Amino acid sequence: MLFTSLFLGEVANRKFLNMSLTKLSFFLFFQAAFLVLSCTTGTDQVNPDIESQTINWEKEFPGIWKSEVYKPSKFNLLNATYTQPREKSLNGMDVVDAPIDMGEVVATKANGKVFLRFPLDREEQIYGLGLHFHSVQQRGRILKLHMDHYGGRDNGRTHAPVPFFVSSKGYGVLINTARYIDAYVGTGVTKDSKNPPVVRDRNTDGNWQAMPYSDNLEFVIPGEGVELIFFAGKDMMEVVQRFNLYCGGGFIPPKWGLGFWHRTPTLYSDKDVEKEALIFKEKGFPLDVVGLEPGWHSKAYPCSFEWSKERFPEPGKFTEKMLGHNIRLNLWCNPYLWPGSNLDKKMEKYIGSHTVWNGTVPDYTIPEARKVMQGHMLKHQIGFGVSGYKIDEVDGYDRWLFPDVATFPSGKDGETMRQVYGNLFMDLTTEQYRKGNTRTFGLVRAANAGSVSYPFVIYNDYYSHNGFITALVNSGFNGVLWTPEVRSGGSAEDWVRRMQTVCFSPMAMLNAWADGTKPWTFNEVYNHCKEVALLRMQLLPYIYSIYADYYFTGRPPFYAINLLEGYSHEEKVTKGKLDGTKNPYAMAQVKEVKDQYMMGPSIMVAPMFEGQSERKVLLPAGKWYDFYTGDYVGSDEEISVEAGIDKIPLFVKDGAIIPMIPPIRQTVEWAGNSLELRVYGHADGKFILYDDDGETFNYERGEYATLQLEVKEGKGHLNEIPTQNWNYGEITWRYMVN
Ligand code: GAL
Repeated sequence: MLFTSLFLGEVANRKFLNMSLTKLSFFLFFQAAFLVLSCTTGTDQVNPDIESQTINWEKEFPGIWKSEVYKPSKFNLLNATYTQPREKSLNGMDVVDAPIDMGEVVATKANGKVFLRFPLDREEQIYGLGLHFHSVQQRGRILKLHMDHYGGRDNGRTHAPVPFFVSSKGYGVLINTARYIDAYVGTGVTKDSKNPPVVRDRNTDGNWQAMPYSDNLEFVIPGEGVELIFFAGKDMMEVVQRFNLYCGGGFIPPKWGLGFWHRTPTLYSDKDVEKEALIFKEKGFPLDVVGLEPGWHSKAYPCSFEWSKERFPEPGKFTEKMLGHNIRLNLWCNPYLWPGSNLDKKMEKYIGSHTVWNGTVPDYTIPEARKVMQGHMLKHQIGFGVSGYKIDEVDGYDRWLFPDVATFPSGKDGETMRQVYGNLFMDLTTEQYRKGNTRTFGLVRAANAGSVSYPFVIYNDYYSHNGFITALVNSGFNGVLWTPEVRSGGSAEDWVRRMQTVCFSPMAMLNAWADGTKPWTFNEVYNHCKEVALLRMQLLPYIYSIYADYYFTGRPPFYAINLLEGYSHEEKVTKGKLDGTKNPYAMAQVKEVKDQYMMGPSIMVAPMFEGQSERKVLLPAGKWYDFYTGDYVGSDEEISVEAGIDKIPLFVKDGAIIPMIPPIRQTVEWAGNSLELRVYGHADGKFILYDDDGETFNYERGEYATLQLEVKEGKGHLNEIPTQNWNYGEITWRYMVN
């Protein structure tokens, strides 16, 4: 264009007429070359393939809107399985408006992709977008949401790359696609921005920023369209609740699932396992579930799903015997089939184009493939009384998983299958247990949106204690649960600190598959390990009730303090220091709270790490009390706490009621126990104590009991004690008020 105008300008200019022939030919040559170039790059015209539109939202439930942007693909994260929104609960929620002008959400279609843009205010923070191990708030990050094992960096490749973000403004969006997507969380600056950043000269202005303010959150979605679901809420917690309920709602684990878990070394035989369980008994250490690792299979990896004849010659009898010790068995597996095994033969018609460790990869989106697997599980494991599975390797590691170019008989490709493989396997397993009206509780290494109602907890091979706690913090933004499993300890101190954290998590588990560790491996701290495991058992009524709340209201049982009512979302931003090697752009640092979290509505957990005798704890607004002593500790401030290795710092909210039972070793001893209701602080408070049969799905049909506990003006009150589905004895109040 520029050249064309120059040319016309020259024509108008008499001088043109005086141009020499050589000059003219040069001029015309450049002009022609530029025209060819601009036609191919399209720089001087609007690309006819680019089409933008504002999004039309349709109301689905109070505070939830849906939109089909262009042509979404038929297969997505929510319909990959049989996820159904919990309609009744969603319809029962308050009507709430969207806190942003939804008309400002813009979609653009270009070159076979969809770009989405959401507005972003100066102070707004963004959470979620996957299970991260180092960060909590995501503003300023670029993420590639891609199912993967965690490789040490918060870049979107993780065990739960959930494409759902929560904004501190009180809304969230699920980008319901089973493709890898890119997120630019407040990094891009558009030329026509209504809120452009200030232009600054780096030479003279100390406020120059390498990443100038961006007023948007953008996504790239490969494909012709995408479905979006918009969730509003009076605060971020309500947004998360709506998201969870929309994705099927939370679940209530079987009671035994909340006891202590121990995974035995991979090649243990039935005799070794029983012997080990009996040592736990002898030592009085809690134990409800034993996890068998690859050695229970006759062949692994990939898996035969058949019992090893040498190590487990009589699996039915063995399972029964362990049940006699009140111990459930959980079986490790990966879903790739051993060549020539029975399952492999039966699955022949339903497998993908590629293998994993020479094993075939079933297409579990095909109903017949699900049935083959379910039938096998029922006949050889579930039918014997096996309580659940640990579903390994479904997150994939690029170099051994099926590649994205893999194809499957249902027409899916490797990318799509990878995003949902964990969900598919959890779904078929859960359905099989549901058929027998028996709850299960298990582990999985990959979950995505749509998996909220599956009774599984994520784990991985990464082993940073800090990272494990940050994952606990993030799990609540993503509709998943996470266990900071204990495997080994660098020292006795590291060991006990990790034990303390895991006992305040969704699943208290020691995974000794490789190291053969036992709770008493570090004898010098064994008593402290036992104390904290027994404390978890004492808290079972509280923990069970917060899971019930997850089911009824979608409130996650473990979550970031950012989700507390009244929590100010402002994160402290400290200006980066210029350093030619480490920080040449003087990038700012955001101080976020990633080492403390909530367990239910009342208990804040602030784990300690190896080498620490003191730590900082941020107390959100409202008064907080020490769990152990009931002493007042502070309000809306950062405090320093000291804790010997015998204790994990726990803080309780003003007005909290914590129901506890005496210490027990196994969950079979739970029923019939007396209840102690501990009251903290001086504020009025309520807590709904939940109970049911602990093992069937009858609670979904209303067979459960609740008791509302209430403190008013320092005195505890009870509603009528339920007569059915209620398993507690005498109830006493204990006022932890000093
Ligand atoms: C890993 C898994 C471990 C353990 C191991 C057994 O993939 O993360 O927890 O189960 O396999 O081989």
